[in-house]
Amino acid sequence: MAESMTGLHRTHRCGEVVGAAIGETVTVMGWVQKRRNLGSLIFVDLRDRSGLLQIVFDVNDIGQDGFDKAGTLRSEYVIAVTGTLTKREGAVNKELATGELEVRANALRVLSESLTPPFPIEEDSQTKDELRLKYRYLDLRRPDLQRNLMLRSRIAMKARAYLAEQGFLEIETPMLNKSTPEGARDYLVPSRIHPGCFYALPQSPQLFKQLLMCSGYDRYFQIARCFRDEDLRADRQPEFTQIDMELSFVDVDDVIAVNEGLLQTIFREIGVEVSLPIPRMTWQEAMDRFGSDKPDTRFGMELKNVSDVVKGCGFGVFTGALERGGSVRGINAQGQGSMPRKKIDALVEFAKGYGAKGLAYMCVNEDGSVKSSFAKFLTEEEIGALVAAMDGKPGDLLLFAADQDKVVYDVLGALRLHLARQMGLLDKNQYNFLWVTEFPLLEWSEEENRYVAMHHPFTMPMEEDLDKLDTDPGAVRAKAYDIVLNGTELGGGSVRIHQEDIQEKMFEVLGFTKEAAHEQFGFLLNAFKYGVPPHAGLAYGLDRLIMLMAKEDSIREVIAFPKVKDASCLMTDAPSRVDAKQLEELEIAVVENKG
Ligand code: AMO
Ligand code: AMP
Repeated sequence: MAESMTGLHRTHRCGEVVGAAIGETVTVMGWVQKRRNLGSLIFVDLRDRSGLLQIVFDVNDIGQDGFDKAGTLRSEYVIAVTGTLTKREGAVNKELATGELEVRANALRVLSESLTPPFPIEEDSQTKDELRLKYRYLDLRRPDLQRNLMLRSRIAMKARAYLAEQGFLEIETPMLNKSTPEGARDYLVPSRIHPGCFYALPQSPQLFKQLLMCSGYDRYFQIARCFRDEDLRADRQPEFTQIDMELSFVDVDDVIAVNEGLLQTIFREIGVEVSLPIPRMTWQEAMDRFGSDKPDTRFGMELKNVSDVVKGCGFGVFTGALERGGSVRGINAQGQGSMPRKKIDALVEFAKGYGAKGLAYMCVNEDGSVKSSFAKFLTEEEIGALVAAMDGKPGDLLLFAADQDKVVYDVLGALRLHLARQMGLLDKNQYNFLWVTEFPLLEWSEEENRYVAMHHPFTMPMEEDLDKLDTDPGAVRAKAYDIVLNGTELGGGSVRIHQEDIQEKMFEVLGFTKEAAHEQFGFLLNAFKYGVPPHAGLAYGLDRLIMLMAKEDSIREVIAFPKVKDASCLMTDAPSRVDAKQLEELEIAVVENKG
C-alpha cells in the first residue's frame, strides 16, 4: 500500500501553522495522535515536535476515496495532509497554540503505518520506566521529553554563543586515553594492536585542557562527553556531558565572573533572571550551617551546634560524643512537634541509614513542656537552655545528632532535606544559586590509609595554607569552588598548580613517589617545564543543569538514550557479550565466575 512520495513538501510544522494566513493552502506531516469519526466528518489530531493540529476530513472537500482512507488512520500512522487553514468551527481548544485553527483536508497521503504502540504517546506518562526505556524511540515522541531535548539543544547553543563571545575556543580532546589513577573508576577499551594494553575513556578532559593552556589557547571550552564507572543515582549516569572550560592568566574571581555571565545568559532562556553576584559561602560555613557541601538554600532549618549547651549534662550519649572529640548539633523542624511517634521512628531509621547511632528528639508542647527521648537525663534549666539555643517554639520538633563532626553533618544534612521534602518546602520555581569556596584540599581515605585529593591532584592550595602541607595537610584549604543550585552540585573547578615545587609537594602528600608521579602524569609534568601560564577552570554537568531547568527529578529525563541503574541500556541491551573471534583478536580471555 506504499504511496508515491513524489512532490512531497511540508510547508509548516503542525504547531507553526499559526504563521500562515487563514485561507492559505498548507501541507503538514506528522503522527496521528487520535482519530474521531463523527458521521460525515472525521477529525484527526496530528502531532509533530511543535505540537498538535486538528485536521478535518469532510467528504465534500476530499472526495469519497480520501474520506475512506482517512477512516483507516490509526494512532502513530505517519501522514501528509494538504488542505486549507481555517478558523475552527467547533469548540476552541485554549490549551493548544493552534487551538483556534484547523486544516480542512483536500489531500491525504499515508507515509507509513504503525503497530499499536505498547504505551500511549502522551504527556505525563504513567508507563513504567522499564517499558519506556525499552521503547525509548517511542518514549521520545512524548511532548515532555521533546520539550526537554529541545531545551537542551537551545541551552547548549546559547552557552556556545556566549563563550565564543567571551573569547573561548571550542577544541576537542581525545576519547581514547591513558588510564590515570584518582577519581572514579575508568571505563577501559582494549587495544588490538597492543594486546594486553588498554585505553581509558575520559572521566573529564582535565589533563588535556591544562595542556591546551600550556600551548597558549588561553580560553578553551568544550561540550564534552565524560565516562565514569560509578554507582548510579538519579543525578549520575555512566556517560554524561560537561560544559568544560579552562582559562589562563586568571584567579578565582575571573572564573566566577565569566560563569556568572554564562549562568545569567542561559537562565534567561527559561525566563529566570539570575541576580548577580551569586552569593558565596566557604565549605566550612556550608557544613556548619547546612551539613552539606551543596546546600539547598531555598529553606532554613539550619544546623545549630549545641555542644556548649549540653556539655556537662546528664545524657551520656551527648557527653560521650563530646569526650570523643565530636559534637552535638540539632535542627528545628518548625511546626512538626505533633508528629506521631511512628513517623519520628522512621526519621530515626532514616538517620541510621546515614551512619547515626541514634537520633534524639524533643517536641516542644504548647505549654512549654517537652516530650522527648532524652529529657529525663536533663534538668529543667538544661532543657530550657537547649530549647532556647534551638530557637524552639511551641509546636516545634527538635532533632539532635551526637557523633564525630562528619557523621553529624551527614545525618543532619540529609535529614534536613528529607524533612523539607515531607513538609513541602521545596519550590521548583525558585532557583537559588550558591558558590561554595575554600574546599579542603585533601580528604583522609580510611580505605587507602592516606590522603586523597578532594578535587584532583592539580588543585592549587590557598597561599596562606601552603606551610601546613607538611604539618597539618588535612587543614589545608584549596582554591576550589563548586556552583550549587537548589542543593545540586551543578559544576566544580579550581585554580591549578602551575609551580613545579608545589606540584611535587602535592604528590608527596598524596603518597606518590617521584617515579610513580612521572609514570602516571609525566606528560603533564614535562609540559609544565616549558613555560606554563597560571590557569584555572570549571566544568558543569550539562545533564544536571537541564534537569533543574526542566524541573525534572532525574537526569534520565533530559538524556535521549540514558542507561538504567545497573549501567545497561534497555533498548540496545548494551553491554553484551562479544564474539569469541573479537576476544581472540584482542587476546582477551573471559573468566567465567560462577561463584
Ligand atoms: P567534577 O568531577 O566535579 O569536575 O565534574 C564536574 C560536574 O560534572 C557533573 N558530573 C556528573 N553528571 C552526571 N553523571 C555523573 N556521573 C557525573 N559526575 C560529575 C557534576 C559535576 O559538578 N575536571 C573537573 C572540572 C574542573 O576542575 O575544571 C571535573 O570533572 O555536575
Ligand atoms: P538510648 O539511651 O540509647 O535509648 O538513647 C536515648 C535516645 O538517644 C534515643 O532517642 C536514641 O535514638 C538517641 N541517640 C542514641 N545515640 C545517639 C546519637 N549518637 N546521637 C543522637 N541521639 C542518639
